Amino acid sequence: MSEEFKLKLTSRPRRLRSSPSRRSMVEESRVTSADLIAPMFVIDGGGDPEAVESMPGVYRLNVERLVVECEELFSLGIPAVALFPCLEPSQKDYKGSGALDPHALVLRAVRAIKEKTPGLTVITDIALDPYTTHGHDGILTDDETDVANDATVEVLMKMAVLHAEAGVDFVAPSDMMDGRVGAIRAALNEAGSTQTGIIAYSAKFASAFYGPFRDAVGSATARGKPSLDKRTYQLNPANRREALKETRLDEAEGADVLMVKPAGPCLDIIREVRGGTELPVAAYQVSGEYAQIHAAAERGWLDLNACRNESLLAIKRAGADMILTYFARVATEKRG
Ligand code: PBG
Repeated sequence: MSEEFKLKLTSRPRRLRSSPSRRSMVEESRVTSADLIAPMFVIDGGGDPEAVESMPGVYRLNVERLVVECEELFSLGIPAVALFPCLEPSQKDYKGSGALDPHALVLRAVRAIKEKTPGLTVITDIALDPYTTHGHDGILTDDETDVANDATVEVLMKMAVLHAEAGVDFVAPSDMMDGRVGAIRAALNEAGSTQTGIIAYSAKFASAFYGPFRDAVGSATARGKPSLDKRTYQLNPANRREALKETRLDEAEGADVLMVKPAGPCLDIIREVRGGTELPVAAYQVSGEYAQIHAAAERGWLDLNACRNESLLAIKRAGADMILTYFARVATEKRG
């Protein structure tokens, strides 16, 4: 074939890709720091940051360091953080009563962050797993065969009100109990917390990609009868329609934002939720999605920065308006 040979094509799509500036002009999706929410692990005491082994670059921070980190994130243009407390086993109990302690670690963290960086949006998880010795997201039935839905929701309502009083911007129920969004909305209204939003983990799948997070918060050993596992409340990854039903329920119950989790394995769900609601849609790029990119990069098999950026871009392109990601800081600092 010679250079002289010319096809008389009507359309040459490659024309739009022929230089960096042309590519930039036609770029359809971009991830900016404003799209990102940084999940943060907080520990009690005055100790050094503790590395989370299965999540390189992620640390559990004491409140003092967390406050500094949050201030830096905000100055980098990241609008929000999501807090996860990590408690000592001795601070947990069977019913997760620590969740209703008015001096709970996460509440102290919220107050300290808000004092230093009031403009930063603070999100807290509403679920009992950091507080229960068995690691489930709620209270177990007496025979330990189930997580008691309504009794759990009753605790979550009180927990949400405590968090709102501490100054949190959004509570994020991640427990997947039935009816919890409506109940939390009613409790917040009752308490006069009309400005506290709800980011509902609406389509939260029972995913194997949460493994490293459970190491981070020490909820790895979910106990109970063998029949009891998180699949009794989190969604079956095989089910699309059921995920959409959950998002519709949460919207009707008063959620402000609907979330899909995990993100990368659920791009189809993100797209479909985006198309079916006027509410903002959040997606959570979970611990295992982060860990797998790092693990492959450590072996020299993948380019860390390029794969990180592409993974976030794919989530944005699928339709997420905001992305919870452990890459938040580094993706903002090094765009390369
Ligand atoms: C539990 C909760 C989990 C995550 C966020 N909230 C884990 C679980 O359901 O066991 C996972 C986040 C991640 O993997 O990064 N309430």
